[in-house]
Amino acid sequence: MILVTGATGAVGGEVARTLVSAGPVRVFCRDPARLPELGPGCEVAVGSYQDRGSLLRALAGVDRAFLVTRDPGGDSDACFLRAAAAAGVRHVVKLSACAAGEDDADDPVTRWQRDCEDLLRSCGLEWTLLRPRAFMSNTLAWAGSIRAEGVVQALHPEAPVACVDPRDVAGVAVAALTSPGHAGRIHTLTGPEAISAVGQTRELSRVLGRPLVCRGLTAEQAAAHWSRRHPPHVVEALLRGAERQSRGRKTAVDPSVARLTGRAARSYARWAADHREAFGAAPARFSGPARV
Ligand SMILES: NC(=O)c1ccc[n+]([C@@H]2O[C@H](COP(=O)([O-])OP(=O)(O)OC[C@H]3O[C@@H](n4cnc5c(N)ncnc54)[C@H](OP(=O)(O)O)[C@@H]3O)[C@@H](O)[C@H]2O)c1
Repeated sequence: MILVTGATGAVGGEVARTLVSAGPVRVFCRDPARLPELGPGCEVAVGSYQDRGSLLRALAGVDRAFLVTRDPGGDSDACFLRAAAAAGVRHVVKLSACAAGEDDADDPVTRWQRDCEDLLRSCGLEWTLLRPRAFMSNTLAWAGSIRAEGVVQALHPEAPVACVDPRDVAGVAVAALTSPGHAGRIHTLTGPEAISAVGQTRELSRVLGRPLVCRGLTAEQAAAHWSRRHPPHVVEALLRGAERQSRGRKTAVDPSVARLTGRAARSYARWAADHREAFGAAPARFSGPARV
């Protein structure tokens, strides 16, 4: 049995969807109503990392797990790993982040990721770390302003990043969970090229078939925007990450996605085409018989 956490998120949902056709899978989530369609073969365990009883029930009979957490400074990884060790889990594949392996990255979120990686590597279980660059799906945050006024607003709009399609991160996670040779390995995951917010806006404009404008934000404006959704230590991390991006520190392309999945890493153009409806494109037309 494989346990998939984070299945309401971009990567975990795709991991669960892919695994469900291959064998027994259970997802662990706080709110089943937020799960994507996973099919009848998928077991659902409801709970939270902070509820040890719910974790132990979810982990019963599990030998491999995909771990996704998102509480910088919090104890979700520690809670999960304590319960996983007690339940006899053999191998944990953890979603971490590229910056955790980069010496010049030193912000509160990266320090938290490094601490979580260290916890996993020292807990006695087999481990695999996935270190993706920024997800292409982060640009879904632009959907509202694109729909409303055809505008994208970004800090350092000309600075490129080798962002990765979450479906490719999920593809590597599935490989690590289902094939040998991944224990004790760290996989750095990027897309096939570095692209800036201006370039991403151009691709979205192309797939939507209408002009879009990309406007730069000052650091103060970006911080004010992020502060509506994130606590100060996360806003600080976002600002420092953007500053590293502006210095060209996030452009390196890594071949691991293709090597580990056997498929070329998807481009941002491909991601944009596959998600055009989220930005206001009309759904593809049903091409059935013409009405008379
Ligand atoms: N976004 C990026 O560009 C990016 C890039 C590199 C690395 N990462 C890393 O990827 C990880 C996921 O980030 P994300 O942005 O993809 O987030 P996400 O899609 O929202 O995934 C987080 C998942 O964790 C679940 N979760 C959170 N707290 C929980 C708890 N107490 N108990 C049970 N489940 C809980 C959430 O469930 P709910 O639906 O209940 O909230 C959600 O399914 C983070 O470690 C992040 O640092 C992200």
